[in-house]
Amino acid sequence: MNTNQSDQHANAAVRYKQEAGEYAVRFVESGMAVGLGTGSTAIHTTHHLGLLLQRRQLHDVVAFATSQAIKEEAMRLGIPLLPDDLPRSLDVTIDGADEVDPQLNVIKGGGGAHLREKIVAQASRRFVIVADDSKLSSRLGTLWAVPVEVLPYGWRAQAMFLESLGARVRRRLRDDGSPFVTDNGNWVLDCAFGPMPDPHLLAAKMAARAGILEHGLFLDMATDLVVAGPGGVRHASRQDLPADLFAGR
Ligand code: A5P
Repeated sequence: MNTNQSDQHANAAVRYKQEAGEYAVRFVESGMAVGLGTGSTAIHTTHHLGLLLQRRQLHDVVAFATSQAIKEEAMRLGIPLLPDDLPRSLDVTIDGADEVDPQLNVIKGGGGAHLREKIVAQASRRFVIVADDSKLSSRLGTLWAVPVEVLPYGWRAQAMFLESLGARVRRRLRDDGSPFVTDNGNWVLDCAFGPMPDPHLLAAKMAARAGILEHGLFLDMATDLVVAGPGGVRHASRQDLPADLFAGR
């Protein structure tokens, strides 16, 4: 791919993210409690929701953000927010993904927000993934490493444990070389497992380990996928996934 082609590719991906993010606002109805996802796709959902609330096309919506950055953006847009203790369940959460498989299992956490994102997704009746079509994959782990949030205390023990599970482990760093710190004050280990034969087994092993606060495997959680690509925006539900959606992945 030459520079011009790769620019076009990147521009298309930016457009697809916006199309998917905005499309998904149709799952929000007046009166609902909504989880706001984190990342460059879900941000379009927040922006579009803010716009529809301003125009009174939607009303009486309350939201709950999956990260501090999205919370601040929602406040800037005047979207009413639930308190941080999350006193009620949510009707729908709309969030991005790094990789999605044909069972709508997902890797998340490219932005390091996956612990809060999972709390919010599990508190939601409906969990809608928004993505551009580059995220579709026949097998999780093919495209993306699994982000794992760990307590800084004793973190090398978790790194060795994750290596023993088959991962190539890299501690996430900021541009200045210091550790990336999550909204919860912890660190992230990016774990490249490669294509995973059994993500459920891996998830269970990671979940059982003290010091691992949360991993980025979101299994059996997404109810819907909104994906945008050259053919437009498509919506699929977990019960009714079009056979061609993952063709060639
Ligand atoms: C944030 O921690 C992530 O889970 C994001 O939702 C995910 O990385 C997708 O991000 P983009 O929409 O920016 O690709």
